[in-house]
Amino acid sequence: MPEALTVTVVGAGGKMGMRVSANLQRGPYVTLYAETFPAARDRVTAAGRTLTDAMDAVPRSDVVILAVPDVLLGEISADIVPAAKPGAIILTLDPAAAYAGVLARRDDLHLAVAHPCHPSIFLERTSAAEWADTFGGEAAPQDVVAAIESGGAEARERAEQVVRAMYAPVLDVHWVTVEQLAYLEPTLVETITCMISGLLKEALHETVTTVGVPEAAAKAMLLGHTQVALTNSLRGSNPFSEACLIAMDYGRESIIRDDWKKVFDRSELDHVIARMLRISQVRHAAAESPAPRDPATS
Ligand SMILES: NC(=O)c1ccc[n+]([C@@H]2O[C@H](COP(=O)([O-])OP(=O)(O)OC[C@H]3O[C@@H](n4cnc5c(N)ncnc54)[C@H](O)[C@@H]3O)[C@@H](O)[C@H]2O)c1
Repeated sequence: MPEALTVTVVGAGGKMGMRVSANLQRGPYVTLYAETFPAARDRVTAAGRTLTDAMDAVPRSDVVILAVPDVLLGEISADIVPAAKPGAIILTLDPAAAYAGVLARRDDLHLAVAHPCHPSIFLERTSAAEWADTFGGEAAPQDVVAAIESGGAEARERAEQVVRAMYAPVLDVHWVTVEQLAYLEPTLVETITCMISGLLKEALHETVTTVGVPEAAAKAMLLGHTQVALTNSLRGSNPFSEACLIAMDYGRESIIRDDWKKVFDRSELDHVIARMLRISQVRHAAAESPAPRDPATS
């Protein structure tokens, strides 16, 4: 029997820390849980897990998961990285800090990032538990997008094994570069998709409060049409009607700026990530790293 991997979750009492800990606990790992904030420490112990000091846990770990706030990743990694054992994987759950070059690094460690995709709106859910699991990581299967900056096949397999366990049930793990992952999150999903979801909520509010449409009617119309609009646009399920296309053009002219695609410029990505991390500017550590552009070939 190969020796079980030792995995440490730093920030084990936070939102993601609690989620990934619950899944790792069920796997064939020696899992250690580190947490500093008193209320969060209570959450870890209330879940039946024993706390370990990060400085005791990290030197023993094959994989160290940094489930801590992104704005703290620079200072926390400065403590954790020197204590890690050679060959360990330092795994963050969001690409911003890795992209911005704020993480402490060591040549003999592997820096990885793995972000859950959350279950697809088009997932064929067959049970009440799958319907209830909108976030993923409990019952509804999801994909994960991940990046690793160095290391060969063994490091990537070790990272994928842990990533599949902590976000389980997982369908596919898509390996990309840190920069590509940063274009997925924040640009594609937070800057655009989450922003549009906020706009939908505001539009519902306007329809109800300004125009005076009964809320139940407005909600029913919005939720059903959100589903059909997404399946029409993203899967080509049905064509939009001619009148609908005219109204869609009017909406785009009225609401969307002509230059909106500038959010895909690298300078804009740098700008938003610096804002998110509350730093003056990003350092392009990802581009300067020895990582190949296509990790599938590493
Ligand atoms: N919340 C989400 O929906 C979500 C989804 C995907 C990825 N992420 C990513 O997961 C990571 C964690 O986010 P979160 O939302 O779980 O944050 P959170 O604030 O809920 O939890 C962070 C935890 O880290 C703990 N912590 C802070 N400093 C620590 C230290 N020095 N040692 C040990 N523990 C420490 C805090 O006490 C807290 O319990 C971030 O990188 C975030 O981008 C979050």
